[in-house]
Amino acid sequence: MQNALTGVSRGSKLASQLLAFGRRQPLEPKVVNIGRFIRGLDDLLRRALGEEIEIETTVSGGLWNTFADPGQIENALLNLAINARDAMNGRGRMTIEVGNAFLDDDYALEHADVTPGQYVMLAVTDTGTGIAPEIIDKVFEPFFTTKPEGRGTGLGLSMVYGFARQSGGHVKIYSELGLGTTIKLYLPRSHASEDLVVESTQKPVVGGTETILVVEDDEGVRATAVEMLTDLGYRVLKAADAASALAVIESGVPVDLLFTDVVMPGALRSPALARRARERLPGIAVLFTSGYTENAIVHGGRLDEGVNLLPKPYTREALSRKIRYVLGSQQQGNAAGPAQARTGASLEKTARQLSILLVEDEAIIRLSSVDMLQDLGHDVQGAANIEDALALLRKAPFDVLITDIQLSGSSGLELADEASALHPGIGIIFASGRDSLPREREGGILLRKPYDAAALASCLERLGKCGASQTS
Ligand SMILES: Nc1ncnc2c1ncn2[C@@H]1O[C@H](COP(=O)(O)OP(=O)(O)OP(=O)(O)O)[C@@H](O)[C@H]1O
Ligand SMILES: [Mg+2]
Repeated sequence: MQNALTGVSRGSKLASQLLAFGRRQPLEPKVVNIGRFIRGLDDLLRRALGEEIEIETTVSGGLWNTFADPGQIENALLNLAINARDAMNGRGRMTIEVGNAFLDDDYALEHADVTPGQYVMLAVTDTGTGIAPEIIDKVFEPFFTTKPEGRGTGLGLSMVYGFARQSGGHVKIYSELGLGTTIKLYLPRSHASEDLVVESTQKPVVGGTETILVVEDDEGVRATAVEMLTDLGYRVLKAADAASALAVIESGVPVDLLFTDVVMPGALRSPALARRARERLPGIAVLFTSGYTENAIVHGGRLDEGVNLLPKPYTREALSRKIRYVLGSQQQGNAAGPAQARTGASLEKTARQLSILLVEDEAIIRLSSVDMLQDLGHDVQGAANIEDALALLRKAPFDVLITDIQLSGSSGLELADEASALHPGIGIIFASGRDSLPREREGGILLRKPYDAAALASCLERLGKCGASQTS
């Protein structure tokens, strides 16, 4: 059992670090004072570093606030601290420094990813081995590690880098062989006042006695969630899809929290379920859960305001914490006045449903793109190569063809010509890792890889085939 649990938690950590590197982690940014925030992490760092490492923390006075996901700040700091520990062989001094920083035009000229401006800097310095100049450019690469098998996966710094970039920040390494390393993480300044509900993940598990409706199509996952919640003291109802969940809610039983999977089979989609549940029970709290990071409720890597998401797989701790948090905020809101129903209205798709053919030879990209397009409300078919694509095109018309330019052994450009010949009005989008389309296709629509749901949606809008202006 222990081995299985360790395996699952390692897999889940791996997935989330890769997502962080790909800047696809759903972030929940808050206004945070990092100085105050990291004081709450003393214990955690102490435990991670062991007895023999001295930890010194300096926070400069008048520290600005920053706008970033506190859970990820904690993760980044922990990764940097563990790297420092490993570099010092468990002995030495680690310094954490937090201060205001201004990155000026000159600095921005030297660093392509920097927008000049005000940042909050979090620096971690160690007195360890240092990083050799030959590998310093590689350390952010996913899976780059110099540690023996089983000790490092090479994802720590990739996560830090992806998180910084996704948050509009920047990372810089200074290192000297034999002397030590400083890694500086810059996060953008926020002028807003600090959000109060900044909690560290290191809190004990608490349950409750509210009623929770669990909606999940996978029987095993549903049974586990029900059992964990029952165990935590909650009264639990369950449903296998959105339609039966709605039936439960409409039957009039009081439900305090709707805990629903995002991606489920059936015509009723989970955002619509949430909206209808709120119409019926205005005080109900809603928590979504999903194993996918781009879906009906995550847009462009960011959760919609007021929407709560628990990523899968989750532990009992994560579940209990998130449930309490969501119930707590809802109860505060309910006490404050008539429920300002934060309905799923913004989640409803206004665009017209399109029939789309997506051609991509990389299975993972194909599957996730099909998923994103479906979540945008479209009818999608995927094809892995030109032959399959042509067979589909001959069978039925499509509104839009999205094709990779470089398909193994053949070209998406030729496919586009054939598609246009078969269906003259078809809209065409080319996906490519390059910055521009080949000259003969100038003026065509380029979907730059890697892309997210927002990029897909905006390309479809540019085609003029969907969006408010066009009524079908
Ligand atoms: N503070 C440091 N001092 C010296 N070398 C470092 C330091 N931080 C990172 N490195 C080097 O960069 C490599 C990549 O670091 P990264 O955190 O991405 O992966 P890892 O520590 O090897 O594995 P993981 O963090 O996934 O357990 C390390 O293997 C190490 O060689
Ligand atoms: Mg590491």
